[in-house]
Amino acid sequence: MYPHLLERVCSTSAIMAERVRWLARARGEVLEVGVGSGLNLPLLDPQHITSFVGLDPSPPLLARAAARISRVPTTLVAGTAEALPFDGARFDTVLLTYTLCSVDDPARALAEIRRVLRPGGVLVFVEHGAATKPRTLRWQHRLTPLWRLVSGNCHLDRDVPRLLEAAGLTVTELDGRDSDASPLSYAYSGIARATG
Ligand SMILES: C[S@@+](CC[C@H](N)C(=O)[O-])C[C@H]1O[C@@H](n2cnc3c(N)ncnc32)[C@H](O)[C@@H]1O
Repeated sequence: MYPHLLERVCSTSAIMAERVRWLARARGEVLEVGVGSGLNLPLLDPQHITSFVGLDPSPPLLARAAARISRVPTTLVAGTAEALPFDGARFDTVLLTYTLCSVDDPARALAEIRRVLRPGGVLVFVEHGAATKPRTLRWQHRLTPLWRLVSGNCHLDRDVPRLLEAAGLTVTELDGRDSDASPLSYAYSGIARATG
């Protein structure tokens, strides 16, 4: 998807309100996986966040992110979620906003996120995925093969809570609801913890 179109889709007022709500939970050393064009950067709170690393595989999106103003010491890194170039137990918080839908291997990506989180660290997620209504889910399954081709690999039908739990992350807060963005989209946001 073209960067300006991606930004428009990901910055509606409803989506920005969700970002503000959940980004307030980020603490300490923070990694955003799939930072994209950096829409979250101006929302980072320097009172609670000591440093921020944004990772993304797309050089054009990283260039756009570099132009954003952040009030937190920020580093941008090229890389993929499936092979995070960081030592284990490095971060207090990982942010995942509208990215799990697009990674090639969500199980591998979440295993990597769990690896780089400190014990007790939190994953803050604002995502979309599998609908709870069977009819909508059937349509999501049908349309995803086509949709991912025109949308930068976005899958409509990933079961976000189930993927998180399968990766050994404990979902402690979960807000799931039909999305305002599209009748074929279901919104998931919340907190998952790296325990044990
Ligand atoms: C819809 S954008 C969301 C960007 C940003 N997180 C936001 O909230 O605006 C999805 C992002 O996932 C990134 N992405 C795709 N595959 C990825 C992967 N394997 N690892 C990390 N990021 C990936 C894309 O480059 C893109 O920046």
